[in-house]
Formats: sequence, structure tokens, C-alpha cells
Amino acid sequence: MEIVGIDVGFGFTKAYNGKNSVIFKSLIGDATDIQFRSFLGEDSSTSNLHITLEDKSYFLGSYAELQSTIREFTLDQEKLIEDFVKILAIAAAGICTDTTVPINVVSGLPVGYLRRDTKKFKKMIQGSHEITFHNRDGQDVTKKITIEKIHIIPQPIGSIFNLIFDDNGKIKNKGLAKQKLGVVDIGFKTSDFSIFDHLQYIERGSTTTDTGISKCFSVIANKLRQESNINIELYRMFQFIESGMIKIRGKEYNISNLKKRVYTHAASAIASDLNRLWENDWDIDTIILSGGGSVELSEYLSPIIDGNVIPIGKDVDARFNNVQGYCKFGRYKWGYSKFLDSREEKKNQPSKDTGAENSEKSSTKETSEDTENTEKPSKGLSWLRRQS
Ligand SMILES: Nc1ncnc2c1ncn2[C@@H]1O[C@H](COP(=O)(O)OP(=O)(O)OP(=O)(O)O)[C@@H](O)[C@H]1O
Ligand SMILES: [Mg+2]
Repeated sequence: MEIVGIDVGFGFTKAYNGKNSVIFKSLIGDATDIQFRSFLGEDSSTSNLHITLEDKSYFLGSYAELQSTIREFTLDQEKLIEDFVKILAIAAAGICTDTTVPINVVSGLPVGYLRRDTKKFKKMIQGSHEITFHNRDGQDVTKKITIEKIHIIPQPIGSIFNLIFDDNGKIKNKGLAKQKLGVVDIGFKTSDFSIFDHLQYIERGSTTTDTGISKCFSVIANKLRQESNINIELYRMFQFIESGMIKIRGKEYNISNLKKRVYTHAASAIASDLNRLWENDWDIDTIILSGGGSVELSEYLSPIIDGNVIPIGKDVDARFNNVQGYCKFGRYKWGYSKFLDSREEKKNQPSKDTGAENSEKSSTKETSEDTENTEKPSKGLSWLRRQS
């Protein structure tokens, strides 16, 4: 059974199956008829995303940004679940995996919406879906994605699992597993706070606020609109933020000082939310900063957080922390070594069914120590109490 982690964020949709990573902007546009295609420029699996799902065609991600007449993104949780999640999640899964057999999915919701939206989310993506990818070379590839089981966890917990579990879903960092951990996941729209104490999720210290990077972007976009009369869509801001320069109708605007001010303000809002929320949790051993926004804000945020903050590695893309953790956790929950064992057995048996491929081809060492962790029914998060 292949396990795919899927994270449909307000900014980016991410998927990971232990081997392939997929990321594209959570942006959906109409599929226009492009009469002339130039084959210059970048070509990656997500730069020309044109799909058909349930008889409707869409451009997704940067392709929608570039080519669609009507482009839609959302900062509304209900709309994300109802209108975006299915399209984005199935597309991400379809790019990530080549398997034709059913898959299991681990995904997440902001902690503040976990109770309300888990059922709805599952209903949206569970079952079989037929998705066609219209490739640039004119070839269409239709894939059937069948999602058998789905497990939804609080989003920021994915980042903790990413540190605690190894790729086989076994606990690799016993030190962290025994600690009281606080995690701050700063995304495009939300900042999610969560506490994880000796592998138990602590609801009390977990919440969702809307101090995400989009709030900073909208302050900057408003200022630019006042000066240039141009309304810049928030999802177009990413590319200008890093350089600190934006060119509008040929005129250059330097936004680096404004960015500094806005980021300083956002960091202090997040730090004060954190201090208030975790006032009585002064015994947190380690604080983990995660999510793409933490990369942008860490230089402003780390110095003003009281506690032992794990610095973000320069070589990691923090946008993937949750989704990688989802996949590792799925392997813990559903048993990766068991899957490898059964695949090994199949390989040794003469079989007609050579088409049941699985994209997990990495040469992971097979061990059977953790098979006791497999196939246990989950009751909320209580399974986590069991330590290895
Ligand atoms: N290489 C990058 N390209 C684009 N954005 C980046 C990059 N690295 C970090 N970022 C930041 O990452 C942020 C998005 O982070 P992330 O993917 O974690 O958010 P999200 O999960 O989509 O949002 P949310 O958690 O609110 O639903 C962007 O706002 C941007 O500031
Ligand atoms: Mg996120």
C-alpha cells in the first residue's frame, strides 16, 4: 500500500510519497485554448499543469497564473474545502504517484478547523477519481487515483513527525519523542500553534491564528496600490518579496524597508500570541518553527521568542515539513515494513500481475521490528501514546 502525504495549503499544495515531492501554488484557473506554445523556459512536472477532472478542465498553479483568464485562489477555509481541495489534492496525488492500486493518504487541517472539517475533507477526496493530465507535447495521460483510507491530523504535527520519524515510519529521534515540544507553523494564511508532549497532542496549547504571510503581503500590496494605482494579487507577490524590488508599468519600487517593517510587526504579533497561548507551558523543551512563512520571518521571530528554538536549516524547504511528516506518519500507522515485506514476497512469487507497480522504488533497508506498530485502528490521536 503506497502512502501519500497531501497538504493543501492556502498558498501551496504539496504532496510527498517518500520519493517524489510535488509543489504548486493553490491556484485554479480556466483552461484557455493556447494556440501557440513556445517550448522555451522551464519545464517541470508542475509548470504546465493542465488537468481534466469530472469533465471540467483547469490550469493549476503557475500555469494558471500565467495563462488563465480567470484565476482563483482563496483565503477562506470553507471555500478551500468545498471548491479547491478535491481538484488540488487529486492533481497533487496524480503527479506524485504512478501506482494504479489504491493508496492511503495522510493529510492535515489547521488545528482550529480539525473538528469541524475532518469529515467534509475526507468525503471530498475519498474513493476513485479519474484525472487527465494534458501534457505539453499534446499527449494526454489519464490516471485513476483511488484513495482508500485517509487520516487527518493537526497540520503542524506533521512538522513534528518529520523530525521524530525516519523514512520508514520508525521513531528515529527518541530524544525529541520524550520532550515537550511546541511548534509554530507559519503558512500563507494561517499560523498554527501546537504542543506535543511525550508524543501526545495537547489540545489546550493548540490554536490557529490568521497571522500568515498573506497579511504581510496585503499591507505591502495596499501601499503599492496607493502609489501606483495597480492592484497586485497576493499570490503574485512571492516573486518580488525576495528581491525587494518590484517593477510596475516600467517604474521600480523598492519595498525592502517596508517589508522589514511589516515582517517585524508580524513576528511580534506571532510572538505575543505564542506567549499568551503558552503562558502556563513554560516547561516546553524545544520550539520548532515550520512552514514556508517561518523561513521569511525567522530572523525577526527567533530573537524575540523566549525558549529553545530549533533554527531552520538553510538547505531545507520548510514548506515541505508538514507533508513529509504526514507521509512518515502514514508509514508508521499503516506499516511500511509490512508493505515492503509483502512486496518482496510478491516479487519472489511467479505473478501475472506485473502491472501493479508502485512508485516507491527507493532502496530502503527492510526491517521487521516495527510491525507491531502496524494496522492498529486509530482512536483519535491516542495511538501516539505507545512508544517504541
Ligand atoms: N521558495 C519559496 N517560494 C515561494 N514562497 C516561499 C518559498 N520559501 C518560503 N516561502 C514562503 O512560504 C509561504 C508559504 O508557506 P506554506 O507553503 O507553508 O504555506 P501554506 O501551507 O500554503 O499556507 P497555510 O498553512 O496558511 O495554509 C509563502 O507565503 C512564502 O512567504
Ligand atoms: Mg500550511
